[in-house]
Amino acid sequence: MVLPALVVVAVGMSAFLTSGPASGASPTSGSASTGLIAHKVAKSSKPTKSSKSSPIHTLALPSSYIAPGRQLFEENCSACHGPAALGTSRAPNLTGLGAATVDFWVGTGRMPLADASLQAVPKPSHFTTKQVEEIAAFVTSLSPVNGPGIPVVNTKTANLTEGNSLFVLNCAACHTITGSGDALADGYFATSLHAATPTQVAEAIRTGPGNMPRFGPGELSNKEVADIVAYVTGPIKHPDNRGGIGLGGVGPVAEGFVALLVGVGGLMLVAFWLGDRA
Ligand code: HEC
Ligand code: HEC
Repeated sequence: MVLPALVVVAVGMSAFLTSGPASGASPTSGSASTGLIAHKVAKSSKPTKSSKSSPIHTLALPSSYIAPGRQLFEENCSACHGPAALGTSRAPNLTGLGAATVDFWVGTGRMPLADASLQAVPKPSHFTTKQVEEIAAFVTSLSPVNGPGIPVVNTKTANLTEGNSLFVLNCAACHTITGSGDALADGYFATSLHAATPTQVAEAIRTGPGNMPRFGPGELSNKEVADIVAYVTGPIKHPDNRGGIGLGGVGPVAEGFVALLVGVGGLMLVAFWLGDRA
């Protein structure tokens, strides 16, 4: 888990100051401290039986998906990524990526890219869920993979309070406490989380798309990922305003946590704020 004091301060600041894209410095340092940690997970094409207690298991992609996936890839992707996905001057090499990465980029509509913009943006996917999985099966059939398969998350036993704390500490500095997203340095932005499915949230955490850091199992366990997924696809999407003060409608759990931050981080916040204004 990554718990830099700066992130806590930045979260507190964005909650209290609602000051627009001011948190550029801390996302960048968060990225540097976590982005380099690589991890290896079982190949998606040969799914491992995860232990029954794990709330996340890897989707098995049948080999019958490879042929239709090849066809879809030729029609929609190979002009940029090359017929064997080895990359061209227009787009990166995809061989070796896990199915989770392919599923995330195509499933969130970031791919196929219409034109080379600064950042591929999420949009309604061109494909059905099955077609996306076929494309992932084809790409991961090309060479041994070195990344996670498509995660299926069971949130039934997830702990929302834990998910809320983990979200505040690891995610809110970039995505804001309401999950609506924020601008980062150099024209990049942390996208809104409100449209992401449970699988896509877990994929983002484990693969670190674009400028987002990757959180390996050493930083967030499967249980912790499931707690965050439950929080991001639950309370954050469906705000409940029974709580006291309005903080962009994040609900009583988050507000309780913010109240805690006032006590713990209050002095640091004031120092930070004054320093900023000077
Ligand atoms: C117009 C060119 C273009 C087309 C068509 C296209 N891509 Fe891409 N793709 C790119 C570029 C450029 C990037 C790098 C974008 C970035 O990093 O923001 C990229 C990135 C990716 C990534 C992320 C790679 C990584 O290492 O994180 C995946 C996965 C991907 N593309 C899959 C696909 C698939 C599958 C298709 C077809 C459904 C497709 N792309 C179609 C240009 C294209
Ligand atoms: C250092 C900043 C940073 C941190 C910390 C961070 N993210 Fe992100 N996140 C990003 C950026 C930037 C993107 C957009 C990547 C792109 O489109 O190229 C993103 C994209 C996402 C998406 C995709 C949303 C969509 O529908 O397109 C999800 C889901 C997500 N992040 C979840 C999380 C979660 C959960 C955490 C905490 C465990 C987290 N992020 C921490 C920067 C961050």
